Amino acid sequence: MSFHVVEQATARLNRSELAVPGSQSKLFEKAAKSAADVVFLDLEDAVAPDDKEQARKNIIQAIGDIDWGNKQLSVRINGLDTHYMYRDVVDVVENCSDRLDLIMIPKVGTAADVYALDMLVTQIETAKARKKRLGFELIIETALGMQNIHEIASASKRNESLHFGVADYAASTKARTTSIGGANPDYAVLTDALGDGSRATHWGDMWHYAISRMVVAARANGLRPVDGPYGNFSDAEGFRAQALRAAVLGCEGKWAIHPSQIALANEVMSPSPADVARAVRIIAAMKEAEAQGRGAVSLDGRLIDYASIRQAEVLVKKAEMIAAH
Ligand code: GLV
Ligand code: MG
Repeated sequence: MSFHVVEQATARLNRSELAVPGSQSKLFEKAAKSAADVVFLDLEDAVAPDDKEQARKNIIQAIGDIDWGNKQLSVRINGLDTHYMYRDVVDVVENCSDRLDLIMIPKVGTAADVYALDMLVTQIETAKARKKRLGFELIIETALGMQNIHEIASASKRNESLHFGVADYAASTKARTTSIGGANPDYAVLTDALGDGSRATHWGDMWHYAISRMVVAARANGLRPVDGPYGNFSDAEGFRAQALRAAVLGCEGKWAIHPSQIALANEVMSPSPADVARAVRIIAAMKEAEAQGRGAVSLDGRLIDYASIRQAEVLVKKAEMIAAH
């Protein structure tokens, strides 16, 4: 390990993160009863300009009045380039009950954006003597945000997670797609002629670089990387495949923009019982090896060593968190 110790953000289960428009208060009770780990009440892109003010009121009331169970609660404010943002922060942080856990900041472009929000939130928390310190969820969804992602990730002690906002990221980078997340047939490799003369097309993952880069920035700063929306909510298989790709790269959660996506995200982002059982066996086998003065041994015909313990401990810790939930 480096001499530099990576401090881990507040641990929260973040397998599924349900987006709920703040203007649609009729959806709040259902969201509170859902199986989502985190619910974010939106003031930004799912709310029309004329509804912003009422959405703030709905959210403040609902956070205080509704029984949200053991969910983590977040509010997505508007971007720093809009005139809605300051009022979102002032109204929400001044008036929301202490049930609120997180503020989600969209379209973060520079570390100074996070710094500015930290200053504002800190002043309001102090003035209002709020008991719970709010954490930040940061959406990386612009070319500028991706360019500055490492500085952004370390810009505040409030930072807890980075989220890949694929829709705005595509718009910002002028990527040739109109869908929200998922695969694109134009992003493919055409093989040379095979034995029979035919050529095969292998679809690639156009989001691989962006998600990988976000995972590195998040983990290097002790934050949770979370994959954002998958727009086609009728395509459960497509959602699952996208979530699996994100999970394999290190993401620990995925947004649900429709209630049907919650169970899928929870399933994909939870270690399977078989994986947990194997992790427990790895830890036991390594303990035994250590007692015999050995650093690497074989288990089921495969090499395991101290790195295997660290991998296994990540899985076991996650399983314990889920069991305690
Ligand atoms: C989320 O905000 C996105 O733009 O994908
Ligand atoms: Mg967005």
